[in-house]
Amino acid sequence: MADPVTQILPDSAAGIARAAEILRDGGRVAFPTETVYGLGADARSDAAVAGIFAAKDRPRFNPLIVHLPDRAAVEAYVDLPEAAGQLADAFWPGPLTLVLPRRAGAPLSDLVTSGLPTLGVRVPAHPLGRALLEAFGAPVAGPSANPSGRVSPTSAAHVADGLSGRIEAILDGGACPVGLESTIVGFDADGAPVLLRPGGIPRETIEACLCRPLADREGHAAITAPGQLASHYAPDAHMRLDADRPLTGEAWLGFGPDPEGIDGPALNLSPTGDLHEAAARLFAAMREIDNLAADAGLARIAVAPIPMGGLGAAINDRLGRAAAPRPDQPA
Ligand code: TXA
Ligand code: MG
Repeated sequence: MADPVTQILPDSAAGIARAAEILRDGGRVAFPTETVYGLGADARSDAAVAGIFAAKDRPRFNPLIVHLPDRAAVEAYVDLPEAAGQLADAFWPGPLTLVLPRRAGAPLSDLVTSGLPTLGVRVPAHPLGRALLEAFGAPVAGPSANPSGRVSPTSAAHVADGLSGRIEAILDGGACPVGLESTIVGFDADGAPVLLRPGGIPRETIEACLCRPLADREGHAAITAPGQLASHYAPDAHMRLDADRPLTGEAWLGFGPDPEGIDGPALNLSPTGDLHEAAARLFAAMREIDNLAADAGLARIAVAPIPMGGLGAAINDRLGRAAAPRPDQPA
């Protein structure tokens, strides 16, 4: 098959209708959510879902999230036990994914779950993403719309950067307001909630809703996604975290007031130290500082410390993966 020409579709009735038509034809459409852009395809079709894995070069063992318009639609695919129902009612639509046992007989390609007995479900809040779900009227499988292992996209331009010529279309909804992927919560055999991925809803907020702590995924290998690889979100340059200041040969990614005397390439995630602002800018800033570093002939980026509370946990998680040693890169 020839490589597709990737159409950029506007935020309009015609753009939404065309995007839904491409999904019905088994094609791939990147679409905005409040977290990051997703790479959507018909979750019922093996061929369409296989097309997502192919476009991203994603390992087949890494399962996909299914996007649905509301809780009622979700309940056709998974049963929501009490705690899951509480979270659904509190945070949907919004940046929360629930991983639950998949209902037998739910019309879904087995490729979506990579053979796992569980399914990740999410009800996104972005108006344009929701309009697409409504126009299509069926479940949309959607990982982040980036080549596997690279930085997630928070704009249509980011998607085009990584996947142009590999997918049929991008529905352009501008910049994603949250900027970090959804928080993923699963449940252990006793029904206790487990934080599988920190994300756009802080752990503390979820714990307050449930009136109980979330367990960490480390102790729960059985329900941990095999796809959560240590090295992910990888920029080209090497990242050094918790730095006071850039050393010679390093670009700078700041948070809060910058140290004096920086004269090389530099960006700041939030000069006032606002974690929401930093989250919304994180992935765009990682791309931009990577480009600035490359233009200046630098192979390293020093990153300021980010506090761990609230959205800081998810920001530090993404930075930690971006800084993890990679097979293609000398230490
Ligand atoms: O905000 C988001 O969640 C975005 C937007 C597009 O919805 N999506 C996203 O998808 O981040 P992706 O595929 O890039 O990350 C989903 C994560 C992967 O690490 C995958 O392994 C995990 O969710 N996952 C999916 N299904 C799972 C399951 N049944 N059990 C455990 N983990 C699962
Ligand atoms: Mg991803």
